[in-house]
Amino acid sequence: MISEKDFIFNQNAALISEGGFEWSAPSNIALVKYWGKKANQIPANPSISFTLNHCKTITKLGFTKKHSDKLSVTNSRFSFDLLFEGKPKEDFKPKIQKFFERIEVYCPYLKNYHFIIDTQNTFPHSSGIASSASGMAALAMNIMSLEKELNPRMTDDFFYQKASFLARLGSGSACRSIKGDIVVWGNHKEINGSSDLFGVELPSEVHANFKNYQDTIILVDKGEKQVSSTVGHDLMQNHPFAVQRFSQAHQNLSAIKRILENGNLVEFIKIVESEALTLHAMMMTSMPYFILMKPNTLEIINKIWSFRNETHIPLCFTLDAGANVHVLYPENYKNETLQFIKDDLVGYCQNGQYICDEIGFGSQLILEN
Ligand code: DP6
Repeated sequence: MISEKDFIFNQNAALISEGGFEWSAPSNIALVKYWGKKANQIPANPSISFTLNHCKTITKLGFTKKHSDKLSVTNSRFSFDLLFEGKPKEDFKPKIQKFFERIEVYCPYLKNYHFIIDTQNTFPHSSGIASSASGMAALAMNIMSLEKELNPRMTDDFFYQKASFLARLGSGSACRSIKGDIVVWGNHKEINGSSDLFGVELPSEVHANFKNYQDTIILVDKGEKQVSSTVGHDLMQNHPFAVQRFSQAHQNLSAIKRILENGNLVEFIKIVESEALTLHAMMMTSMPYFILMKPNTLEIINKIWSFRNETHIPLCFTLDAGANVHVLYPENYKNETLQFIKDDLVGYCQNGQYICDEIGFGSQLILEN
């Protein structure tokens, strides 16, 4: 079994002096949710997500060697400039600093370089769509491109596995934004190769019903979250329903694996909606407790249920740790569903905004020099 030690860089190659890369990495939407973690970003239960296609972070990483060729973990400091949409953004620096600290034992060469990190998102800033998954994934891809320069014999498998491993240390769900359309993170007995350390592509053959699955994100509330996911995860530690919840996630993952193989949309809807409501139920029953849904979130859910009852179109909803609603549906119901969203749901969005996305395939290299 692969362990953390396998990801420690220990080559003696000369360090290249300068260069740069640019990668995009997508957001993802969990079907079985990650909520609760142990030390070192180890998830309390396995999760599975659809990778998105259009909601992405695009990050350029420029690097220049500082002075010595000796790998220096302890003495020096991390040195980087951070730009958001081309302009310096001091507020983002502590997050990156913390990320570098968490990964430095695996990437000791980081302190030998000065970095310029220039990042932007394809979705509007403060849309309520979390950029931590796509952002950490895009940065991890760039760092792995640098590491590949230092160790050109690295295999592709290792490249993507370590990228997911590093992204996880930045933000748990980011490890599901590296590669593949449906990604599992966390040990699960029925999923070959699954690991708490990184995400893996679902190894099964997926039914045609789920090809190009659509996700339209209804932006209900663009405000700052009342509670960060990190705080929310911690509240699962002494949560009265934690044990039950973690075991339910294992069962739901077994069920959804079968459903993704056999294409049963009725069963898919049950698991996905139940997972979303369970996630919010966990928040409502932690101490302190909180409600991240807004009145319009509930209005939208009820509209979706009525529309589904009337038309038998197999659309469903899921939620992240926020008020926005993801409407999931098969590609062949796109016209009817978009018409329904325009007619019946747009009124509940802030400024009538929604984002049309669909399943994608992970991070992409844009530029290398
Ligand atoms: C509700 O990955 O944002 O979206 O590991 O603390 O960065 P950290 O948390 P994060 O948590 C995401 C939780 C979720 C469910 C999910 O994506 O599985």
